[in-house]
Amino acid sequence: MSFDTRHLNQQRMPLDDEATVWLFGYGSLIWKAGFPYHERKPATISGWARRFWQGSHDHRGTPDAPGRVVTLIGAPEALCHGMAYHIDAKTLGPLDHREKNGYVRETVTLYFHDGSHAEGLVYIATEDNAAFLGDAPIETMAEQIHQAHGPSGPNRDYLLNLASALEALGAEDAHVFALADQVRQR
Ligand code: SIN
Repeated sequence: MSFDTRHLNQQRMPLDDEATVWLFGYGSLIWKAGFPYHERKPATISGWARRFWQGSHDHRGTPDAPGRVVTLIGAPEALCHGMAYHIDAKTLGPLDHREKNGYVRETVTLYFHDGSHAEGLVYIATEDNAAFLGDAPIETMAEQIHQAHGPSGPNRDYLLNLASALEALGAEDAHVFALADQVRQR
């Protein structure tokens, strides 16, 4: 799969511009919306674990020195806590651009804290995308995040902002919190 997933996303999930859709954010989309929305509220999805396994050449790193950003890995027992946004379908155009480095839209069920649920979308960078880095020892990942810097700023800001946003939500995420501790120590 090429780096740029914009065309793929529009082809595989055409949506009427007048429609509205729920979008689940689990990374920068939690703490840096930067797009219009009708409503925003915490939500959880099940069967997915958040991992810093996706390379970032365009936001938090460069092609020569990629950073690490989050993607979701299928994990039957896992819960992933994040933020849901109710958006106009036409807002997906700019989001496809923002998430173009390997992320494809998937459908998921979003569970809200009041017990209700809704079908929605999430951007996932799958293992077959060219920017996927995969797992590595925690010290190696922390060092890479500590060093990397891209057009959107230092990679460590991405990680620490995400950790703070999850803490503010009261959300558990051992992987993110362990990496944030390692990077704070550097
Ligand atoms: C997301 O936040 O939902 C996707 C990954 C990212 O943009 O950080």
